Amino acid sequence: MSPGRPDPASGPAGAPGTTPTEEGVAGDADAPATSGAGPIGRTGRSVDDRSEAAAGVPTDRSKQPAPSAARSTHPRRRVAVVGLGDISALHLAAIADLPDADLVAVCDTDAARCAEVAERLGVPGFASHGELLERVRPDVVHVCTPHATHGLVGTDALAAGAHVLTEKPLDATLAAARAFADAARAAYASAGRKTGVCLQNRYNATTLALRDALASGEFGSPVGARAGLWWHRTPEYYAAAPWRGTWAGSGGGVLMNQAIHTIDLLGLLLGPPLEVAGHAATYGLPVEVEDTAAMSLLHPGGLRSTLTATNLHASNAPVLLEVGTTRGALRIDDGTLTWHPAAAGAAIELAAEPAVDGARAYWGASHGALIVDFHARLADPEPFWIDPDAALPSLAALREVYAASGLIDPRDR
Ligand SMILES: NC(=O)c1ccc[n+]([C@@H]2O[C@H](COP(=O)([O-])OP(=O)(O)OC[C@H]3O[C@@H](n4cnc5c(N)ncnc54)[C@H](O)[C@@H]3O)[C@@H](O)[C@H]2O)c1
Repeated sequence: MSPGRPDPASGPAGAPGTTPTEEGVAGDADAPATSGAGPIGRTGRSVDDRSEAAAGVPTDRSKQPAPSAARSTHPRRRVAVVGLGDISALHLAAIADLPDADLVAVCDTDAARCAEVAERLGVPGFASHGELLERVRPDVVHVCTPHATHGLVGTDALAAGAHVLTEKPLDATLAAARAFADAARAAYASAGRKTGVCLQNRYNATTLALRDALASGEFGSPVGARAGLWWHRTPEYYAAAPWRGTWAGSGGGVLMNQAIHTIDLLGLLLGPPLEVAGHAATYGLPVEVEDTAAMSLLHPGGLRSTLTATNLHASNAPVLLEVGTTRGALRIDDGTLTWHPAAAGAAIELAAEPAVDGARAYWGASHGALIVDFHARLADPEPFWIDPDAALPSLAALREVYAASGLIDPRDR
């Protein structure tokens, strides 16, 4: 047993636990359900993310090294941020804290927003990412624009010789996401340019501790998982940025924009989903995209996970994620990872998230950690562990749920 780690089978009482996140997987509806692991249900579809993993290339990014502290072994990097809305504040703050990088330019199609940020930060502002890339030639570009623009901006930045850190999801559709992943793979192979995707909940202290707990074997073997996201989004949230409520701009609602992190974690913990079934619908919000969904994922070895997600809850409740094992359950809830032994004995707290202040505390504290790690790993001799291929399965799964629910044309997954 690891020093300091309580005996998972028994041991002293601990506090019950929870973990929050912001904001999936698709398949080929025409493909037969995977056999061998059993039927997945009425709408079960095999997941076809056409990533390296799906193509049989032995790449397992879930086995990448744990996050490291920033290293300053490479020259100062010139960084640009494209898209200056809500999430850009976290990126700009993290860039300002990097010891070996300088913000050199910003871009937003909203002229007033662009001018305000450019003036405040003392860097040139551009209305078009193309102009920024041509005139500034940044080393790294952070993409913080609406979903349907990620592939375009990211691919252009790679072509201009930059490394790219894009916000989730890869793009609004699976086809656009695959094209982005293809471009990222080619840019890495030809010029060593890296692409990372902000699925920052992989860096949550509770996620890291849960992975360690499963890897240790001390808590038994996984038998399945459940997750739930009950959040609150108002009509004003969508009115403030109308792309969020549309299929064209966002490519989805609560699954695409909020629960994608949790779907990603289910795949990280149990293996990329092989099949998916589910249903999504709009019950209460005045938007095109779904506000509520339920889905079931079939993972390697016949393990199943289920997830419920809604933006109709009265508040932003902590995200719940529990992996059941042969010896009990490892549960993340309310920012705490807790071991619940099946045998008699009280729950044991294993890890907790650091406290986060502010209205967006439910986003968690890991954005900065991912940004620091992406920059620190640019000189490493392998792709960033959360690259587009790693981000495809969750997107493929959730787009499959949309197709199965009749919300999108299966040809537009
Ligand atoms: N990782 C997370 O937890 C997390 C949390 C919130 C948002 N996000 C993601 O961040 C991204 C942006 O979300 P947001 O809430 O900040 O949106 P937002 O609408 O507040 O900001 C987007 C900004 O991009 C600008 N823009 C639009 N098209 C552009 C283009 N082609 N070139 C340059 N600028 C353009 C808009 O004018 C706007 O200022 C989305 O992908 C979203 O899913 C991620």
